[in-house]
Amino acid sequence: PNLMVSSAVPPPCSSVTLTQDDLKKIAAYKAVEHVKSGMVVGLGTGSTAKHAVDRIAQLLQQGKLKDIVGIPTSTKTHEQAVSLGIPLSDLDSHPVVDLAIDGADEVDPGLNLVKGRGGSLLREKMVESASKKFIVIVDESKWVNYIGGSKLAMPVEVIPFCWNHSLKRLVGLFAYAGCVGELRKCAESGKAFVTDNGNYIIDLYFERDIGDLNKASDAILRLPGIVEHGMFIGLATSVIVAGVEGVTMKTK
Ligand code: 5RP
Repeated sequence: PNLMVSSAVPPPCSSVTLTQDDLKKIAAYKAVEHVKSGMVVGLGTGSTAKHAVDRIAQLLQQGKLKDIVGIPTSTKTHEQAVSLGIPLSDLDSHPVVDLAIDGADEVDPGLNLVKGRGGSLLREKMVESASKKFIVIVDESKWVNYIGGSKLAMPVEVIPFCWNHSLKRLVGLFAYAGCVGELRKCAESGKAFVTDNGNYIIDLYFERDIGDLNKASDAILRLPGIVEHGMFIGLATSVIVAGVEGVTMKTK
């Protein structure tokens, strides 16, 4: 793809050491500059997206933004937005979203993503695929050479019925890439993590590149019992990356 890289803007206070959370906030605030009054805005989920939601609420309170309608991508973001007084709706009432802003777990050079390590991939994908623009906000640690390249989880949402069978079938699909998988569990209770939609998450790990992403996506979605996977292929229109050297925006 033809990527446009804007000139690097140094982060404010470049003499102080920036934490990963500072970088997330810088990316989030930069993305919110693209939110205009009257827009329907997809509100992402996770520690980076949380900063964007905070910023939108702040600008609404200051009267610098007006008539925003937020479409939350999780119950957690819904609760955050309600607590900050952001007017909310859903895709039934607003099927077209002007702009969605969300974090990601991996971003590859073609701006394909892995999302869902926070467990909200299904609602995120529904909202972000209904958006005219989707700006991804990440700190530089999220860059990978290929999807799966971080060696961290690629989540798949499955129905709870016979989840172990689904796990084995998923792992079988990617045997060529040295795939292993596990049911996601809550750290505190040790019980299965349950998504906002009442489903489970299987986390897949790849030893090697899985190759053609569309082929991999089709194969996953053909399995009965699978609800959605965390590869967001071709959905991002721009990615804002905050690093210690500055902020860059990459656009398709
Ligand atoms: C949640 C997500 C998050 O956007 C993703 O996990 C990134 O999270 P964070 O901003 O906390 O690093 O996809 O389902």
